[in-house]
Amino acid sequence: MSNSPFISNCTAGAIRDAALALKAGHLVAFPTETVYGLGADARNPEAVKRIYEVKGRPTDHPLIVHISALNQLDKWAIDVPEYAIKLARKFWPGPMTLILKRSEIVGDFITGGQDSVGLRVPSDPSALALIKEFEKISNSAIAAPSANRFGQVSPTSSADVQEELGRYLGSADQILDGGNSSIGIESTIIDCTNDSPSILRKGAVTRSEIVAILGDIILTKSSSETKFSGSFDKHYSPLAEIILDTEPTASDGFIAISAIPTPINVVRLSAPKDVQDFARSLYSSLRKADQSGIGRIVVAQPEGEGLAEAIRDRLNKASMGR
Ligand code: TXA
Ligand code: MG
Repeated sequence: MSNSPFISNCTAGAIRDAALALKAGHLVAFPTETVYGLGADARNPEAVKRIYEVKGRPTDHPLIVHISALNQLDKWAIDVPEYAIKLARKFWPGPMTLILKRSEIVGDFITGGQDSVGLRVPSDPSALALIKEFEKISNSAIAAPSANRFGQVSPTSSADVQEELGRYLGSADQILDGGNSSIGIESTIIDCTNDSPSILRKGAVTRSEIVAILGDIILTKSSSETKFSGSFDKHYSPLAEIILDTEPTASDGFIAISAIPTPINVVRLSAPKDVQDFARSLYSSLRKADQSGIGRIVVAQPEGEGLAEAIRDRLNKASMGR
């Protein structure tokens, strides 16, 4: 186990060590309120290259740069529209990523060669502490995708990260443990490179919340030219087959809101009490199925708008299999 990464709690000392590891070009997986990220120095091409290797992700898929506050925006982005500032003021720190025109310090190795950059200020206190500490010593920020192998289920705990990536990380890399992610699915991504915004990926910041802030600015349909890996049909997939249905048969795994009872001989993977709980427990339930060798997971999808739509989006992609 000589090459396994170092896992630690988010104490002040561990955060400092992790920031130093990033500065030295190593990778640090860290908790966020959405899912765990696999971080590297956003201005170090060699370190960022390792993210792609460890994830097994094609290098033309852009990464999100995680910054500590709105006042860092101008460093990474230019020509920021007024509506993007409004969104940032309202939803940062939080589960929202803005796609903006990139500044000259943003390398092609972050954006997959595109002239835009994804920026996010996460609200998880450990994530914020790490980003702040790293900004202080580096004049940079943290580039991070979700800390899973390409196409697979995002991690929502440090144990998930260890399971996904442990064997690809080195002894100088680190995993910070900050408990379970409180939201459980990836951030809402909003393209802010045009006259009006468009939602590229649904998440906990919902369409109606965005409309409430921007008033009469119209949300346009997302353009298919913008590249984002979450837009591939197959994604977020466990080994088990996912069936979107309400009637599991014997030995199937079953995920449904707690009001729906478990049929006989079915393995109940989770019984979330509401939509928030559904999002929070979804990815760990999918992992649990794989760990117990279940072949089919039947999921009764949550109904309604907002976060429920984001969950259905992930489930639709996951149900397309590998
Ligand atoms: O909640 C999250 O967003 C998590 C946490 C760790 O912050 N991160 C995350 O990263 O989900 P990732 O790389 O797994 O997904 C980010 C998505 C990808 O589909 C990527 O293609 C898209 O954001 N993206 C990043 N930069 C972009 C850009 N400049 N233009 C369009 N899409 C972009
Ligand atoms: Mg991802």
